[in-house]
Amino acid sequence: MAVSVAHTLFFLLLLLPTSAGAQNNGRITVGTSLSTTDNFSWLSPSGDFAFGFRQLNGSDFFLLSIWYNKIPDRTIVWHANGDKPAPRGSKVNLTAVRGLVLTGPQGQELWTSQILTGVAAYGVMNDTGNFVLEDTNFNSVWESFQNSTDTMLPTQIMERGGVLSSRQSETNFSKGKFQLRFVEGGNDQGIQEGNVVLNTINLPTVEPNGPYYEKDSTVGDRNTSSAGKQLVFNESSYIYILQENDKRITLAQGSLSTGNNLYYRGTLNFDGIFTLYSHPRTSAGNESWTPIWSVPNNICEDIPVGSMTGVCGYNSVCKINPQDKRPTCECPTGYSLLDPNDPYGSCKPDFIQAGCKEDKISSKQDDLYRFEVRTNTNWPTSDYSKLKPFTEEKCRNSCLQDCMCAVAIFSINNTCWKKKLPLSNGRFITGYGGKVLLKVRKDNSTLADPSFSNPGNEPVRNKKNQDILILVGSVLLGCSVFVIFILIGAICIGFFYKKKVSKIDRNGSFSEMNLRCLTYKELLEATDGFREELGRGAFGIVYKGEIKMGSNVLLVAVKKLHSAAQEKEMEFKAEVEIIGKTHHKNLVRLIGFCDEDVQRLLVYEFLSHGTLAGFLFGDLKPNWNLRIQIAFGIARGLLYLHEECSTQIIHCDIKPQNILLDEYYNARISDFGLAKLLKMDQSQTQTAIRGTKGYVAPEWFRNMAITAKVDVYSFGVMLLEIICGRRSVDMESGEEDKAILADWAYDCFQEGTLDVLVEYEREAMDDMEKLERFVRVAIWCIQEGPSLRPTMRKVTHMLEGVVDVPIPPCPSPIG
Ligand SMILES: *[C@@H]1O[C@H](CO)[C@@H](O)[C@H](O)[C@H]1NC(C)=O
Ligand SMILES: *[C@@H]1O[C@H](CO)[C@@H](O)[C@H](O)[C@H]1NC(C)=O
Ligand SMILES: *[C@@H]1O[C@H](CO)[C@@H](O)[C@H](O)[C@H]1NC(C)=O
Ligand SMILES: *[C@@H]1O[C@H](CO)[C@@H](O)[C@H](O)[C@H]1NC(C)=O
Ligand SMILES: *[C@@H]1O[C@H](CO)[C@@H](O)[C@H](O)[C@H]1NC(C)=O
Ligand SMILES: *[C@@H]1O[C@H](CO)[C@@H](O)[C@H](O)[C@H]1NC(C)=O
Ligand SMILES: *[C@@H]1O[C@H](CO)[C@@H](O)[C@H](O)[C@H]1NC(C)=O
Ligand SMILES: *[C@@H]1O[C@H](CO)[C@@H](O)[C@H](O)[C@H]1NC(C)=O
Ligand SMILES: *[C@@H]1O[C@H](CO)[C@@H](O)[C@H](O)[C@H]1NC(C)=O
Ligand SMILES: *[C@@H]1O[C@H](CO)[C@@H](O)[C@H](O)[C@H]1NC(C)=O
Ligand SMILES: *[C@@H]1O[C@H](CO)[C@@H](O)[C@H](O)[C@H]1NC(C)=O
Repeated sequence: MAVSVAHTLFFLLLLLPTSAGAQNNGRITVGTSLSTTDNFSWLSPSGDFAFGFRQLNGSDFFLLSIWYNKIPDRTIVWHANGDKPAPRGSKVNLTAVRGLVLTGPQGQELWTSQILTGVAAYGVMNDTGNFVLEDTNFNSVWESFQNSTDTMLPTQIMERGGVLSSRQSETNFSKGKFQLRFVEGGNDQGIQEGNVVLNTINLPTVEPNGPYYEKDSTVGDRNTSSAGKQLVFNESSYIYILQENDKRITLAQGSLSTGNNLYYRGTLNFDGIFTLYSHPRTSAGNESWTPIWSVPNNICEDIPVGSMTGVCGYNSVCKINPQDKRPTCECPTGYSLLDPNDPYGSCKPDFIQAGCKEDKISSKQDDLYRFEVRTNTNWPTSDYSKLKPFTEEKCRNSCLQDCMCAVAIFSINNTCWKKKLPLSNGRFITGYGGKVLLKVRKDNSTLADPSFSNPGNEPVRNKKNQDILILVGSVLLGCSVFVIFILIGAICIGFFYKKKVSKIDRNGSFSEMNLRCLTYKELLEATDGFREELGRGAFGIVYKGEIKMGSNVLLVAVKKLHSAAQEKEMEFKAEVEIIGKTHHKNLVRLIGFCDEDVQRLLVYEFLSHGTLAGFLFGDLKPNWNLRIQIAFGIARGLLYLHEECSTQIIHCDIKPQNILLDEYYNARISDFGLAKLLKMDQSQTQTAIRGTKGYVAPEWFRNMAITAKVDVYSFGVMLLEIICGRRSVDMESGEEDKAILADWAYDCFQEGTLDVLVEYEREAMDDMEKLERFVRVAIWCIQEGPSLRPTMRKVTHMLEGVVDVPIPPCPSPIG
């Protein structure tokens, strides 16, 4: 089914020229705007600080922020839209009534500063690092200092109720789980008003957990006249609480003598440590930020055991670096990170956590498990059993025989503590006397993922037993006449065999999949009478719509199948069920369907960034790293369709027009379930060519079995397009040797001129190893013989660099 949801508006085309960033006596007037595309920022008079957009590392997203502009790090001290990174083409406009307004490329609002009182006339980037909106009398109506993110700067004053919020990681500016609060109201968890606390929150909620650091403003006497009224970071870089009675409680001491030679900042780091740093103002370019004071002393030990959230995830162990007091997290032996990119996240056992069932069956527990012994470690909140007095041997046996037991700690006074998963608040404690007995499986035969034990090999699954689903590809302009003939045939058959169909039971089995059964009337309303067409294909037309989900309104793409494609009720239902059960972040989600009399409609989520074709072949070549991420995403989605669904799904029409991009430019494969639904043909050997010229595998033209390898071929063609940012066939350039991308790419590969292939694109050339790996994989994928092509599992492993990619042979050997 042809046409994927094609969107009319597309961000690349929307890079409208923006008004100049006129700066007038250091004041910016209302109506001025900054854009992500013009690399211009608003500077403070001395040039120490800048306000503008900063590109997020390795992505095409931008952060509206304030940074130190004279030091090589260009350290960010304030940011606006950490949770909603701004795509290229976004801009910020200085407006009178709403202050700073950040809008995306399509004009959607991403963030606004808002002004509580007054009307803005100017914006000023102050030399202190404060961005101030002023009215016509130069009175401040909004300040970045009053809306801090994770950093305080000298001259900044925080009133009661003020908060600093950490980010997710050094490079991810989304809101993190740590807070510094200057407490207002007091008495939440017995904390007095005016105290300074550090605490965790359980994201995405904001309710604070008990503090892991607290500075009592009353120094214990609980006299309201000595409660803190302001948290001050003064010009000589002292941080103190100013009490109601104007006395000061010092937290951090800067240096009075160094005068103006140093920059200072106080930052709540992503790992929960609040640190005062200094940095030379004038530098040889090799200096960095030096920590001069930080709290708490040992966050691993100071986080209250009752907190649900610690520094490290579950089953992890928190360890402090005594030099800078910064924590690191470590998975115990036999465990590894759940998300390899998040070193502070949870750890998972590398072995299958045998349920009690299996342990009962197996009589000899000693055969299954052994103990890893370690010291100086505790998970203080994971106990479920205390045995005393006990010997170490009894402790070991008790844990071995107990299917709940994950860890036993045998401690000094003949006490045996048994602990269960998940292990929480794990910490490294120097001098802790207990002996930690970590229960791990002896054999690796039951590793969680079988593919780990034979990396690079073909999957062990027996696909023969699977029901093979061949998808009807999109048959657009330029497709074979034969396919059109088949379609007309199908339409006729549809009319002849048209049967009376009844409604699907609205309380059917679909609720467990969260699929919604919608009425035709509902969809008529949702699409405003099928008004806005997004695309059309051989089997139906796609319309844009809006559907209410609870209190939210969801944008959807409604695919209205031609009535010729009717099938019996049970089959339609069964197929919707198969498609509805596919859940993968790289596939477009089916949200609901309608099956009413002759009307058959499918409702998909709407994806805002259009097709990969539009993205790749638009005016601007997208960023190399983003293209790489998209390729990974498509590979994972295909792997899922081929090997991880209950029913194998062969897409048969992989091409950039059928890949959609969501809000964050994640690749999502679309149109992967329709052939089954339309029951065109389910045989494994096909003669009718499905797919689109340029992307179809050679076996379609021969009398050969059609397997999942046809998708691998199309993926290979598309991978080359992604690598080069051009179409696979380009007759217009006039250069004959470059017209067919596959041939040209192989030539370049053989001659070692991959730089020519990527048109000397800087980012790609800096990433030569990956570039070569990707080109090799693509050439393997487009091998003429299907058996030479790797499986999608192997493709993903090769792309990720988990296995080596051998030198590929010529894709289409002569003869
Ligand atoms: C900024 O906003 C004002 C009104 O709020 C509008 O008139 C102006 O056109 C906007 N400027 C840009 C460059 O978008
Ligand atoms: C943007 O400007 C900064 C500083 O002026 C400069 O270092 C950087 O290279 C520029 N980036 C681009 C893409 O022009
Ligand atoms: C930014 O990305 C580059 C390469 O893409 C990498 O070398 C550098 O370490 C990254 N910086 C940070 C702060 O992650
Ligand atoms: C910067 O802020 C300080 C303190 O609020 C103020 O005295 C100074 O005038 C400001 N500078 C500018 C350029 O607005
Ligand atoms: C400060 O920022 C937060 C979001 O980060 C916003 O909810 C709040 O209204 C802002 N406060 C002011 C005074 O602008
Ligand atoms: C940042 O972290 C959040 C929360 O973990 C995640 O949802 C988001 O995708 C991350 N952003 C980037 C750019 O990695
Ligand atoms: C509280 O402080 C005020 C003024 O500093 C003092 O007069 C009063 O005695 C104090 N009260 C207590 C209970 O310490
Ligand atoms: C900053 O605070 C410290 C400690 O209260 C004080 O000694 C110093 O004079 C203050 N500096 C300025 C510039 O006010
Ligand atoms: C920076 O470089 C200068 C000259 O190259 C050297 O004298 C100085 O020690 C370096 N400083 C640091 C912090 O490495
Ligand atoms: C061990 O027992 C002694 C005496 O009963 C007690 O003083 C000590 O605190 C105990 N140690 C631990 C770690 O429980
Ligand atoms: C199980 O895996 C561990 C670590 O991966 C390895 O050291 C050990 O030799 C393996 N044991 C067996 C029996 O394969």
